[in-house]
Amino acid sequence: MRPIGIKTSNESTYLNNHLITDLVKEYGTPLYIIDDVQLQKNIDDYQTSFKSSMFKTSIVYASKALLTIDLANIMKQKGLMMDAVSIGDLFVIKESGFDLGQVVFHGNNKGIDELAFALDNGVGIIVVDNLTELKALDRLCNEKETNVSIMLRINPDVETHTHEYIQTSRVESKFGINIDDAATIEEALWITNHSGYLNLLGFHAHIGSSITEIAPYEKLIKTMVEFQNNINNQYHLTLFDLNIGGGFGINYQKNDGALPINEMMSQIICLLEAQISSTNSLINHVMIEPGRSIVGDAGITVYTVNQIKKTTGDKTYLFIDGGMTDNIRPALYQATYEVDIVNKLHEKKQNLVDIVGKCCESGDIIRKNILVPDIQSGDLLMVYDTGAYTYAMSSNYNNLTKPAMIRVSKEEVKLVCHKETLKDLMRLMEK
Ligand code: LLP
Repeated sequence: MRPIGIKTSNESTYLNNHLITDLVKEYGTPLYIIDDVQLQKNIDDYQTSFKSSMFKTSIVYASKALLTIDLANIMKQKGLMMDAVSIGDLFVIKESGFDLGQVVFHGNNKGIDELAFALDNGVGIIVVDNLTELKALDRLCNEKETNVSIMLRINPDVETHTHEYIQTSRVESKFGINIDDAATIEEALWITNHSGYLNLLGFHAHIGSSITEIAPYEKLIKTMVEFQNNINNQYHLTLFDLNIGGGFGINYQKNDGALPINEMMSQIICLLEAQISSTNSLINHVMIEPGRSIVGDAGITVYTVNQIKKTTGDKTYLFIDGGMTDNIRPALYQATYEVDIVNKLHEKKQNLVDIVGKCCESGDIIRKNILVPDIQSGDLLMVYDTGAYTYAMSSNYNNLTKPAMIRVSKEEVKLVCHKETLKDLMRLMEK
């Protein structure tokens, strides 16, 4: 849906008082734009609503949704933690000047080099996915004589109604240790108890992404609080920290049914408080890891319509100057985006089109079957909700260059990422 900064006046379209056409003149298309007002509101909404008088709360921004130095700086200013899933993420976050002590390091398949980098650079928490990783980390800590705080990732087997590629909690999922795999859990606890270096804080679970219902979180909270209580009792432990992951959905379309951040978080807090108090749980610190819901609806992508083609098969295509290389989500998950034509927001939408990209792939679609106003070559198309998992998943297929990204507040326009140049395409190639 439209971010809050989009306004129209006399048919002109503005983002936080800046004419979109002016932004495009300066930075070209395709162009990723972050609405700073929407972004700051999302973060503020999390900070005011994910709070409890019963336990400490931490918000860990899931940087896989979008990681730029600019965004890392914002997270630092706002006091959020960040997650990382690779040595590359850790490197970028470190270079941005963000304290790696405030980073949660994830990944189902971390390499030794990545674990070593995390230890050498004082990463705050490593979320360990499996026994092999746990053993390797313990060995490495011994070699380096370095302590590290860890959480164990548990697969709580909670069903979610989201695309199968972004479900992470089915029994056969590749993530975490199955909650009913008592032998593996016992062995993991034996290792952490006998390690001189591993400090087990508690458990982590993440059930998937783009989840709009509260029911899976209700089940997750009940399951994980009970699980952690049982482990504390059975093994005479005092594990105080619980991380329930992210996955909170946004409204790509009007009827997607995602709750506003503050309503979703109030419900999550109520569920946590009820579960923790009714079970006399030791848990006194709960972490969440939102990604999409922080940056998703703050992002738009602006494209130029290059050509319009009518086929004899009664289909009209809008050919835009980007596509699956800057947004793979429609091709990968059949994601559906809403769009508008800049400076034509109030015109009658009467033409049914497919909006497609430049790549040699029939799946290179940004939006199928959508009504748009009368369009000419050169018109600008805005696609909403593209802040999350677009730039982060972009590619150079067909040697298309990556677009620039800007962040637009009322006061300023900040260049966040340069547009890739043709020369950049060859930077890894030997002549
Ligand atoms: N924590 C963990 C451990 C995760 O694996 C993820 C997302 C998150 C938090 C953040 O989830 P979010 O709040 O953003 O839903 N590329 C897919 C989404 C993949 C999500 C991967 N993990 C997409 O474009 O829909």
